Amino acid sequence: MKITILKIINLTLLLLITLFLTSCSSETPDTSVSVERSLYERIGGREKVKAIVEDIWNNHAKNPIVKDRFAASDPAYVKKRVFEIFAAATGATDVEYKGMDMKTAHKGMNISEMEFNAVVDDVLAACEMHKVAQRERDEVLAILWSVRKDIVNSHIITDTLVN
Ligand code: HEM
Repeated sequence: MKITILKIINLTLLLLITLFLTSCSSETPDTSVSVERSLYERIGGREKVKAIVEDIWNNHAKNPIVKDRFAASDPAYVKKRVFEIFAAATGATDVEYKGMDMKTAHKGMNISEMEFNAVVDDVLAACEMHKVAQRERDEVLAILWSVRKDIVNSHIITDTLVN
């Protein structure tokens, strides 16, 4: 009887040790968090975004739908502000946008849907020229679309005429 109890205790101990060793030898769970790089980094960072902004300006200057809007603008000023807003909106941590908010900047300009779309086309074309991939271009489009209601303001005139 005593021997049987000892055998059971031994077997139980053996089982516990086996379970312990199995749990120790199992693979360590991966606790590392994979943080996705910002859109700004995926596009290529400062120099790439600067080059894209240069071509956004060039595209506007050639685009018959919007070129007159920028005829009196200082290119260096507009490019600086557009670089800042592009960088900040895509997640740059070392660039601060120092310009006006989009509603104030475009207030009273009577900007139409067609002009807005033309500017979006120019931005996306510049991204394409600089080999920004489709996924990142889609994200840029989503950002531009999110400020549409603050920029397109031709309805102010329409509403005034209608009422
Ligand atoms: C699509 C999204 C757009 C973004 C993100 C954007 C961004 C900006 C920024 C950052 C500024 C400078 C604001 C400041 O001076 O503090 C600006 C100014 C301006 N924007 Fe836009 N804009 C957009 C669309 C448009 C459209 C559709 C038009 C008209 C075709 C337009 C015409 C102008 C003009 C005329 C200025 C003033 C430039 C100057 O100071 O000489 N923008 N915009």
